[in-house]
Order: sequence, then structure tokens, then C-alpha cells
Amino acid sequence: MMIPQSVVDEVLDSADILDVVGEVVKLKKAGTRYKGLCPFHSEKTPSFTVTPEKNLFHCFGCGAGGNIFTFVSRFHNLGFPDAVMFLAERYGISVTMSEEQGKSRDIATLHEEILTETKRRLISPEGKEAREYLKKREFSSDLAEEFGIGYFPQKIDPQPYMKKYGREILYSSGLFVEGRYGARMRFFNRLSFPIRSITGRVVGFSGRSLDGSNPKYMNSPETEAFKKRELLYNIDMAKASIKQSEVCIVTEGYFDVMRLQEKGFTNSVATMGTSLTKEHVNLLKRYASEIILLFDGDDAGTKAAFKSLDVFLESNFFPYVAFLPKGSDPDTYLFENGKDAFNRVLENKRDLLIFTADMMRRKASDFNRKMKYLEALKEKVMRIRDPYRKDHYVEQIASRFEVDADIMKKDVDLSIAKTTLRKTETSRISYICEREFIASLAQLPEDVGHRLIEDLREDFFHDPVVKKIFQKVVELFDRGGNIEVLVNDQEIGEDLASLLVQQEGVEDHYRAAMENRERIIRNAMPELRKDLTKKLSSAKNKDEIIELLKLQDKLIRNEIVDRNTEV
Ligand code: UTP
Ligand code: MN
Repeated sequence: MMIPQSVVDEVLDSADILDVVGEVVKLKKAGTRYKGLCPFHSEKTPSFTVTPEKNLFHCFGCGAGGNIFTFVSRFHNLGFPDAVMFLAERYGISVTMSEEQGKSRDIATLHEEILTETKRRLISPEGKEAREYLKKREFSSDLAEEFGIGYFPQKIDPQPYMKKYGREILYSSGLFVEGRYGARMRFFNRLSFPIRSITGRVVGFSGRSLDGSNPKYMNSPETEAFKKRELLYNIDMAKASIKQSEVCIVTEGYFDVMRLQEKGFTNSVATMGTSLTKEHVNLLKRYASEIILLFDGDDAGTKAAFKSLDVFLESNFFPYVAFLPKGSDPDTYLFENGKDAFNRVLENKRDLLIFTADMMRRKASDFNRKMKYLEALKEKVMRIRDPYRKDHYVEQIASRFEVDADIMKKDVDLSIAKTTLRKTETSRISYICEREFIASLAQLPEDVGHRLIEDLREDFFHDPVVKKIFQKVVELFDRGGNIEVLVNDQEIGEDLASLLVQQEGVEDHYRAAMENRERIIRNAMPELRKDLTKKLSSAKNKDEIIELLKLQDKLIRNEIVDRNTEV
């Protein structure tokens, strides 16, 4: 993505190198410079320096150095554009355009204001119940302060916010909802956990009920800035410690993270009621070389562990799992048993895939079941990209399942070859026409394009990238506009651009689009037929049946035409 120079300049103007580096490296003033332990190599005496006057950093030990962008890109493993974006987000500089810019800035300030308000309410008389709740659970007020814990009272008057921000901002922030008597705060009588993005901005809240009412935790709704599948609780505070120790402990609850932090395990984060996603893992990969998933030792915990396996295989990252005794969570366990006991739990961590294999082996009570589990494990191993790692796991699994490792290796390789072959075959037939269709469509006048996509449906597309592009094209046509503007789209812009560039030598775009459209419909035939059969069996009246039969007739004829042309 191209970042406008104006944004780069604005970031350079607003960003303070001391502030940004200081967040992850402890700095001490030494003359005009600041010194600290270098985050890029390990050392005991500080040789890492920051010179704020010049906006530069330099390490006399390992030679690392540069400006604020260099630092962010090295520390957070980001490319230049993402490093700029990272800082832009942190300093509230929007890279998107005008109206959006103002809106997201307002929503951000509203969140900061609500944070201040909830913190104030916690220490006010009405926060008594919430304070007592924290005390009962043995969380100190210092710790609560560190995490920005607050209290949502029975009622927060929306009027001052309404005046300052207006309806649109209030509702789209997700913090207010439209009630019978106008706007009201989404959360009431709950303990408040501010949720921060990786750069430390408050993007939402989670409120824990104090009186046992349901749900136990209520979260901000999903918005552009608040996506649970991307957010990790405490990642903003934990990232430096994760980078330094190269380990990240992943738990399930906010209170667990707070307790861990209190006891010195500053490298812990939590998901927000979802299981770990690909986005989470990719984020963590930037800071950690080791992830330890901490689960309860009950069945739910083992199930959750097993569920997260696929995500890791896909990201080519292999986590450990550690289990607490049945019935305890990190918070209670650590509080009751202390640091040493907890460290032993961590030391007993197991490789997730091996753990899964052991669990399956234990359950395999007879030969048939053993083969079934072995097949399931084979399917997992097949997806490991690194060949040495794959071999390692095959050997471990084979020995546990008492089968010959060499035979299993051959079997795995053969199955991989078969699926790759199948994949490339289908992609050759069906995916290329999807890409070419979009590319030609972009060259045609809007009204023609409109007609061409009329009978197409999203589920006709097999290539996930093209599918996404198609969705956007449909939206765009509804609004009116040429496909080329989608090249600026954040999500699909790059894919679309590369698709447009790759298409060469097409003279008649209309014809090409028509032909590829035919192919797409033909490829979608099996799904269409299935769909139709289902609809026919549940059709209620004669008219409906006749309509469906007509459609079926069309499908069949299409298939006949298709066969004739193939021969
Ligand atoms: P748990 O129910 O295990 O809670 O939910 P917990 O963290 O141990 O909470 P306490 O100790 O009883 O207060 C784990 C996580 O699942 C999400 C929250 O992120 C919570 O921290 N959750 C849970 C929800 O989003 N909604 C709910 O209703 C419950
Ligand atoms: Mn708990």
C-alpha cells in the first residue's frame, strides 16, 4: 500500500522517539542522550542510545540504528508502510480520507473520555460495590489502576456526550444504544475493562456483571476498530516483555492476565471470549518465538486446545499447551499456590500436536479406532510446510501409534502429492476464468458490467480472493462507480491491481467476459443443482414448482450445450 508523504511527515512531526522507544525499552538520561538495554541483542550493560534532538537511536554494541520508523519496523517486525501505519494509529493520524478521518478520531476521543469517567466512578461513592468486588477477589487498587479498571454505574447521562459528539458518533462507537427514552449507555452496573489496541488506544470495553446477571461479560459490539478476532487483551503492555523473553502466555480471562501481571508474568495476554484466530497468531508471531496456551485441566480445556491446532498449522507456528488442575483458572491457581507452583505448571508444557496425538492414542481402544485417529493426525501433519518439522512429528506419532515411521512418511508424502495435484487441476480449470472475468469486466462500461454480473452469485466463485473482489464489485455497482476505484480499497486493492496487471493480450473484453462468465456458471453447476433439488423438495405451491422446473430445464440445457462444445 502506498502511504502519502503527508502522512509520513505528519507522523514524523507528531511522534516522539523517546516516547515510542521508551514504551518498550527502559531508558535513563545520560547527558543529551538516553541509554538503555538494547532490544536487538542481549546485553547486561546498556549500549543502546536514543538522541531525541536528532530523532535517532543507535546501539554501540550491535550497530543497530536509525530513526523512529527503523525502530518500529525492527522491533515490531513490520515493513516500512506498516511501521508508518503503526505510528499513525498511535498518534491518531488517519491514513484514510477526510470524513472517515474525523469520525474515527472522534470515536477514539469518546473512548478515552469514557475511560476517564469509569475510573472516576469506581472511586466515587457509587463504585462501592465494584470496589468491594475487586477486594473480595483480592485485586489491589494499584493493579486495577494499572489496567484502567473502572465502573459503569446504573446510569451515565448521555446528554453531554450527545452534545459534544452527536448521535452518529455515539451510536457507531457502540458505547451507546438507542433505548426507549433515547440514547443510553450500553453498559450499566458493571466492572469495566478497557480494551486496548496494540498501540495502547482504547478501542472498546468489556463489562463484568457484579450481581450475577447475564451475560457475565458484555463486550463492545464489533466495529472497524473493535474486532475480537484481532484483539488480544493486554498486548499493548505485554509486547515488550514478550519480545524480550520471546515467550507469550495466552490465557482466557482478563482477571487471569491481571493476576499473572501482578505476580511478575508480564508476558501474558488473553483472547476475548473467542478461540485463538489466525490473526492472533500472526500478531503474536511478530514478538514471540514460543507461545504457551494455558488451559483448565478439564474436558473443555482439552477441547479448546485441540480446536486451536488448525489455526497454528495454517500459520506454521507450533505452540505449547500447559494445563492447570481441574477447576482452577490461572487467577485462582496463582493466587492460591504461588509463583513456584505456577512455574512448574509452565515447565510441564507439552507440544500441542504431540499432546493431541497422546490424547487420541489414549482414546483409541481398538485397532479400528487407532487407524481412524492415525488418519486424522495424518491429515494434520500433511499441512506442515517445514519438511524437517513434518518428519519429526511423523516419527513421534508413528512411535506412539506403534506403526512403522517410514511407511507413515511415504503415506503422508503420497497424500500430499495427491491433494496438490487435485488443487492445481481445479485451479487450472475454474480459478483462471474467475480472474479473467473480473479483469475484463474492469475494462467494460459500467452498464455493460452491470448486466454481466446480474445472474452471478458470490458462491459461484471458488477463488477466495476473487470472491472477495466480486462482493466489492457488487457493492460498488449498487452505489455506482467504476471498478478501477477498487484498486484503492484497503482489503482487496492490491489483489485487484495485480489481477489487472497480469491480464495481457485480450482484444475483445466483452467477448472474453462473456466466455469466462459462461465458464464460471458451468463450474457452479453442481452447487446450483444441489440448491435446486433442495428448493424443489421444499417448494410449497404450484407456481413456485413451475418456476423451479423452468430453472432446472435451463440448467440441463446449459449442460447439454456444454457437452457438445467439449467434444
Ligand atoms: P470465563 O467465564 O472463563 O471467565 O470467561 P473468567 O475470565 O474466569 O472470569 P471470572 O474470573 O469468572 O470473572 C473467559 C473469558 O471469556 C469471555 C471474557 O473474555 C472472559 O474473560 N466471556 C465470558 C465473554 O465474552 N462473555 C461471557 O459472558 C463470558
Ligand atoms: Mn476466573
